[in-house]
Amino acid sequence: MNKETVLKALRTVTEPDLKKDLVTLNMIEGLEVSENKVRFSIVLTTPACPLKEHMKNDCTAAIRKEYPNAEVEVSFTSKVTSHQNKPALSNIKNIIAVISGKGGVGKSTVAVNLAVGLAKSGAKVGLVDGDIHGPSIPMMFGVQNEKPNVVERDGKQWIVPVEKFGVKMVSIGFFVDPDKALIWRGAMITSAFTQIMNDSDWGELDYLIFDTPPGTGDIHLTLVQNYSVTGIVIVSTPQQVALADARKALSMFTDQQINVPVLGIVENMSYFSPADMPDKKYYIFGKEGARNLSAQSGIRLLAEIPIQEEVCESGERGIPAVFDDKHPLQTAFYTMAQNTAQAIAIRNATLDATKIVEINQ
Ligand SMILES: Nc1ncnc2c1ncn2[C@@H]1O[C@H](COP(=O)(O)OP(=O)(O)OP(=O)(O)O)[C@@H](O)[C@H]1O
Ligand SMILES: [Mg+2]
Repeated sequence: MNKETVLKALRTVTEPDLKKDLVTLNMIEGLEVSENKVRFSIVLTTPACPLKEHMKNDCTAAIRKEYPNAEVEVSFTSKVTSHQNKPALSNIKNIIAVISGKGGVGKSTVAVNLAVGLAKSGAKVGLVDGDIHGPSIPMMFGVQNEKPNVVERDGKQWIVPVEKFGVKMVSIGFFVDPDKALIWRGAMITSAFTQIMNDSDWGELDYLIFDTPPGTGDIHLTLVQNYSVTGIVIVSTPQQVALADARKALSMFTDQQINVPVLGIVENMSYFSPADMPDKKYYIFGKEGARNLSAQSGIRLLAEIPIQEEVCESGERGIPAVFDDKHPLQTAFYTMAQNTAQAIAIRNATLDATKIVEINQ
């Protein structure tokens, strides 16, 4: 057994999403072979990769097929991919916008748990709250009374994001008097938003999650006109009205002139299971609406999140479900984050960089 023969065995292991072998994809690093011991790392495209154990098992099996007594030690590292060779906005590899057609369907809940879930997996994550009308994200983070600091560096003022649960977060709500938010005009919103994006001290980020207001408005246009957005995640409840609005919002992003990839749909409030009858599911808002939309449109269904009182409570307590080991939906939200990370990696491996939308006025 030597490095060459081990690599030969590893060439038979396929990355399930990218459909190429791990050696060709340069995913094997630090290979050491001595007597009957083999040690190496698999370089993942995201630390939140849901298939990592699967790949580890496949590698071990491939080596043991040739060398039944080999001791195989596999560890993981990750290099999060970007769709751009050189990310435009400082060092942010991926910008993900969480959108919905209808209001109140759970965008902010999804954005928070996505950001915190990715951070929990080991990724570097930022979160922007793009809603000027209500500071819902600061409340879900339990930082509604904090104000981000401003520091001066190289003659420029930088906003220092509030850091919690491993996520760097900035909210437009921090800078707007909520009582005056309603009189903000489009231009003011746009400039506040670009300032937050450009003047925050993000450092290096694998993912910047952007929570948007419902529908498609100034903020959404500003986003696609100024930044190359990796993709969008759409949130809907199974209700027909919500799904109809989701389709409308989707049509804006998939319009030829805008053309931002859709990473998937999260169905929220899919069903209710009483605590004393966990196997029983009540489909309060209708059944499998997003699953059907997914089947018709070919857009991936990333998660079906049930309705649980605890989701609302954790929003108010300021501890996201995915961070809370006692939360009944911790796994559901973590799986959602893993599936989204996987969808981003596939998007980056298969599609070109998203073009910034030209402004024609
Ligand atoms: N799966 C769930 N189970 C129970 N309550 C939920 C669930 N998802 C969200 N909620 C609650 O529903 C309310 C609306 O959720 P959220 O603020 O995330 O929606 P939104 O789409 O961001 O709303 P808006 O359009 O106003 O920005 C919140 O009180 C939240 O705690
Ligand atoms: Mg919201």
